Amino acid sequence: MPKILNYGSLNIDYVYSVPHFVQPGETLSSLARNIFAGGKGLNQSVAAARAGGTVYHAGAVGRDDSRVLLDMIESNGIHADYLQKRDLPSGHTIIQVDEHGQNCIILYGGANVSLTKEEIHHTLSHFAAGDYLILQNEVNCIEELIRKGAACGLNVCFNVSPFTPELLQLPLELCSVLIVNEIEGSAMVGMSADTDPYILIEALCSKYPQTSFVLTLGSRGSILRQKGKEAISCRAYQVNAVDTTAAGDTFLGYLIYMLSCGEDGGTALQTATAASAIAVTRKGAAPSIPTMPEVKQFLAEQRTTVLTDRI
Ligand code: RIB
Repeated sequence: MPKILNYGSLNIDYVYSVPHFVQPGETLSSLARNIFAGGKGLNQSVAAARAGGTVYHAGAVGRDDSRVLLDMIESNGIHADYLQKRDLPSGHTIIQVDEHGQNCIILYGGANVSLTKEEIHHTLSHFAAGDYLILQNEVNCIEELIRKGAACGLNVCFNVSPFTPELLQLPLELCSVLIVNEIEGSAMVGMSADTDPYILIEALCSKYPQTSFVLTLGSRGSILRQKGKEAISCRAYQVNAVDTTAAGDTFLGYLIYMLSCGEDGGTALQTATAASAIAVTRKGAAPSIPTMPEVKQFLAEQRTTVLTDRI
């Protein structure tokens, strides 16, 4: 079975419950504060591990403030052999969650953006062709990670989030899988964000013909277009959201795990969609991510099929 290496961010999330997002010039009292382990990278690692994968998380945390992050790694059986400790603050966020479960996030990179090329080369030398490398845009040295990962024959899976225009200068054509939302995907091909998603995903596949695409459409669902195959569409399950933080990371971790097991695209997409549906019904980032038995039970309880011809 291929190994999954996530070279990604780990953040301490300071989550404030608010009646609405704070406005310019406003001082807003929060209703509650919670501190959770998070970061796109760590959330995705936890999802892939809870799905059943053999997961290695590489990156960097602060030496003095990272207990909550290390506990999450250890309690999920994630290998930390290539996780560095620095005399820096860990990456952290300030997250507002409103009464509809929507969030907005301020990110401080901290130790996440202290990666070195030497560490990357050392870490990747322990992985083999066919293994999976998951990346997001919350660490530095992304270009090195993509180039070196592809040169080692790893399946490079890049979640282009949070999106910045500089990402377009990266060698994205070397990625095996790109995970994008409508705004990110349309920016990559110079289209408007309200372009029909099927036209958009075809444009992405034309520009990057060696790459599989996952187009996420928020509460509408997602589309998977594996290289050389037809698009597969999946609607989102209807659930009562209390906190959407990490829903996308849960989806991605499950999807990559399922694809790494050789599961067909439809099964992988439906399972990942179910996992993220459960995650939004729970508070926090990594703590909200379900285990595979929970996802299987959720799927068994559903009466409607979410796989569809068109979203
Ligand atoms: O995707 C959710 C994550 O984004 C949060 O856990 C936060 O740390 C930010 O990185």
